[in-house]
Parts: sequence; structure tokens; C-alpha cells
Amino acid sequence: MKVLVIGSGGREHALTWKLAQSPRITRMWVAPGNAGTREERLSGSGDPVENVSLAADDLPGLLDWSRIHQPDFIVVGPDNPLALGIVDRFREAGFRIWGPNQKAARFESSKAFSQEFMQRHGIPTARAASFTDPAQARRFCDELQGQCAVKADGLALGKGVVVTSDPASAHRAVDEMLVRGAFGNAGSHIVIQERLHGREVSLHALTDGSCYRLFPTSQDHKRIQDGDQGPNTGGMGTYSPAPFLSDEELSRVGAAILDPWLRGCRAEGIDFRGLIYPGVMLTVDGPRVIEFNARFGDPETQVYLTRLENDLLDLLEACVEGTLGQHALRWSPNASVCVVAASAGYPGTSPKGKPIEGLAGAARLPGVKVFHAGTALQDGRVVTNGGRVLGVTATAGTLAEARDRAYEAVATIAFDGMQYRRDIAAQALQHHAPTA
Ligand SMILES: Nc1ncnc2c1ncn2[C@@H]1O[C@H](COP(=O)(O)OP(=O)(O)O)[C@@H](O)[C@H]1O
Ligand SMILES: [Mg+2]
Repeated sequence: MKVLVIGSGGREHALTWKLAQSPRITRMWVAPGNAGTREERLSGSGDPVENVSLAADDLPGLLDWSRIHQPDFIVVGPDNPLALGIVDRFREAGFRIWGPNQKAARFESSKAFSQEFMQRHGIPTARAASFTDPAQARRFCDELQGQCAVKADGLALGKGVVVTSDPASAHRAVDEMLVRGAFGNAGSHIVIQERLHGREVSLHALTDGSCYRLFPTSQDHKRIQDGDQGPNTGGMGTYSPAPFLSDEELSRVGAAILDPWLRGCRAEGIDFRGLIYPGVMLTVDGPRVIEFNARFGDPETQVYLTRLENDLLDLLEACVEGTLGQHALRWSPNASVCVVAASAGYPGTSPKGKPIEGLAGAARLPGVKVFHAGTALQDGRVVTNGGRVLGVTATAGTLAEARDRAYEAVATIAFDGMQYRRDIAAQALQHHAPTA
């Protein structure tokens, strides 16, 4: 089978690496991929994975290319092409493609849609309302005494949310979005949620539109600096499993969210086939969904796929075919930790083209897999090509060992301006799970 993966980040490298292990794949491309994806080899034939230089949101280009190369199965990584309707376009053209269609992708592309959907279907979430009128929005902020999360409706590269603790800053956030148009169209409609407190966990579930399969827990680290300081980023590191929920609690929380979600989708004619990823806050009053994503998390994928024992191609095909009910997910009991190495300046603008040293040495360490994100090949050398550069991932029998190995690997890698957090999974190691 010939497979095309769309995207270029750490998530897509992890998807590519895992799919390449499927013995059924005879040829594989990644568009546009990175310096890491093209190093992967198919376990069946030993042939290399090929990068195709087309951007993930170049729908006409990808469609033309696919008509020539005829991939049998297409896997979409990032949110943007999904929101643009890539799945609808490719299905109409007769291709088998994994990911939610445009209507289903609205769970991520419109926070107002998602919020109202949760309210319609009794999914536990924050007290919230959506607005286009600034005066009404400010009034709601006052009702919440300024304890708000003010959110642009549309995709905003992880920068469209402002969490506030007083009315003046809540008003400023409203004005920024609704009056000054800081996020353009994405922010001409906003959602305001009450500010919640608690630990955040990422849930992931594959779904074929009629059933879902929940993943184990993981936790991301969104802020740039240790101790959750500094601005938000796309994610600076993850680990799995997270000790804050027992398996029993996880399936209870998963069901409290995903059972009504799936029923709601059916009732509203939303055919979601892909990965649904609710962002959840564990509050003293119980779990609350703060948002939905409609694709794999990055860097959650890196820790999940290094623990997944199934053939990923089987699972993704089952989502598309509506046969996911025939599959059980199997997870390694090992723990996995991913530490992101980012460029200087990230999450602001960062330089590109810095040579990366030490990749080969890191790859030789036991249990270590270095996933590339913003990398490129320049004159035969691997160089930086974006904000998040690498996801250094290690798997081991315990979380402590996995963490030590990941940091051992990070220490062998260097590029000009490299920054990373020193405390990925540190809170988990201090946490003592209540004995069930
Ligand atoms: N209701 C809320 N209360 C407190 N913090 C929130 C709330 N909603 C979002 N946040 C914080 O803002 C971050 C980003 O919000 P989120 O809704 O996940 O949007 P996005 O991932 O699209 O930027 C969250 O990870 C969380 O830390
Ligand atoms: Mg989020």
C-alpha cells in the first residue's frame, strides 16, 4: 500500500516513523516533511520514506500530485488543512483519507461552535458564552469578576487565548480581539469562559463516528520556561502516562466527555472520523473540557506512538472504514518522555539555518528516538528550520528512567541558541498517585 502523510512537524515525524513499521506499506511520502522524515525506512522493504515539497495547506497542489502518484491512503497531521476541508476535497476525488471532514473539524476551527455544542449536549465544561458585540462581552467579563479565559473563535496558532484575573485586563483582551481585530477573522467572534483552576490533562481518542478508543493519559507543558513561567508555546514537552488519573478515573472521565460528545455528533449529523483531543482541566468540581482539538497533539503524539503496540495503519484505516469497534488498543507498560528543543527566540520569531550537532550520538542511546520538527537539510547538513526543532523522546520501564534518558540524549545535542525546559515530567515524579 502507498501512503502519503501530510505535515512537517514533530507529530508528522512520529506518525511517519510509526506507520513505516507497518509491513503492508510499500511506499511512503511525506508532504512536505522535514529532515527526520526522509531518514525513515519502511520496515517491509527497507526503502526510504520520500519527502514531497508541497505545503500541508496547498490543497490544489496536493490533489494534483495525488492524481499522478495515486496514494492508497492519506493521513492528515495538522489542523489547518482539516479546517480548509482537505478531507472533503480528497474524498470527492476518490481518495481514502484519514481525518475529520470540514464540518467535523469545526470542533477545533470554531471555539464558539464547540462551546455551544458542549452546552447543547451536556458535556462538562466551563461556564461560558460567545460574543461578537464588545459591550455584551465586557458585561459578561464583569459578571465573572474578570476571572476569564477570553478566546478567539478561530485558529490562532495557540496564541488566541488570554487568561485574566481582573475586569480591566479582561476588557483589554475583549477589545484587542473584537475592536482592534488582533486575530483578524479568527477573532471577530469570541468565547469567554470562566477561569478554571486545576491540573490540565490531554485526552486523545480515535473514533470512526460510531465508537471511540481512548488513549492513556499524557501531559503537555505549554509555557516556554521551567515552572510554567513565560509565554505559551505549541508545547515544550510531554510524558505518558500521567499519574494524576488512575485507569479507572480515566475511563470515567473519558466516558463523561466522549459518550455525550459522540451522541451529540450523531444527533447533529456530524461524521467525525479521526482523532478527537479534548483539553481537560481537572477542577475540584470535576473534569471540565476547555477546548477540543480535531487532530493528534504535538508533542503528545511523540509519547503516545512510542508506547502504542498496534499497527497504526490498521487503526487509521479502521477509523475511515467504520470498523474501529473490531480493534482494541494495546499500550506498552513503559513510560515515555519527550523534551522539545526549540530555537532562540521561540515562541517569538527565531532564526533558521543553524547546524544541529550530535543527532547520531543521541540516536544510539537505548530507548531514545529523536523526532524532528523544524529541521531541514542544507548542503548535506541538518539545520534548524523553525521554532520547535526536535522532540527528543525516550521510553523506559519507569517515568524516572525515561526522563533521565531523554535528558541524557538532549545533553548530546547542540545548536546555536537551543533552549529546552529542564522540568518535563518533574511534577509527575513528585506526585504520589492515591492508592486505589
Ligand atoms: N477556562 C479556562 N480557565 C483557565 N485557563 C484556561 C481556560 N481556558 C484555557 N485556559 C488556558 O489557556 C490555554 C489555551 O487555551 P485553549 O482553550 O487550550 O486554546 P488553544 O490551545 O487553542 O490556544 C490552556 O492550555 C489553558 O492553560
Ligand atoms: Mg489547547
